[in-house]
Amino acid sequence: VCIRQATCEDLIAMQSCNLMCLPENYQMKYYLYHILSWPQLLYVAEDYNNKIVGYVLAKMEEETSECHGHITSLAVLRTHRKLGLATKLMSAAQRAMEEVFEAEYVSLHVRKSNRAAFHLYTETLGYRINDIEAKYYADGEDAYDMRKYLRGKP
Ligand code: ACO
Repeated sequence: VCIRQATCEDLIAMQSCNLMCLPENYQMKYYLYHILSWPQLLYVAEDYNNKIVGYVLAKMEEETSECHGHITSLAVLRTHRKLGLATKLMSAAQRAMEEVFEAEYVSLHVRKSNRAAFHLYTETLGYRINDIEAKYYADGEDAYDMRKYLRGKP
């Protein structure tokens, strides 16, 4: 499996991976908005049959005083989990946020009940809980608003 920057041709496969893995789904125009605005922040995991088995969709938040990145969505197909792919996808997006956009930190939201993702973010990647957003999700579940500070400018 290889990790590479996504192209427009990957967007349909990224959307179907998202539909298989998460209840938060997006219209194609939202994927297009991401890739047109921040092409350096979309990565896919591709297997040896050229099948997309995971993705990360990320963006920059430029309106606030601190320039920061945001992970919009991350998923890996069930058949390819626990191989380190999500860790690699996240690391690639974080590195580009830092190197290309000079982001101070990365933010994301995750369901309180999502143990696998929470483990990945806190234990593997070093994110901390910044806040709790009550009833953030459509079904009423709370979100952890998480942050990881990046190394900063050299
Ligand atoms: N339970 C506990 N720990 C787990 C689990 C699990 N089910 N799955 C992975 N982990 C741990 C791994 O052991 C590893 O820990 P280590 O670094 O201490 O060894 C760490 O998490 C990272 O594992 P990876 O192999 O890199 O993660 P993986 O490729 O399996 O993907 C993911 C993790 C993305 C959460 C996957 O389970 C998935 O797609 N889930 C459904 C979609 C989802 O929840 N996406 C995130 C939503 S939040 C957002 O999008 C911003």
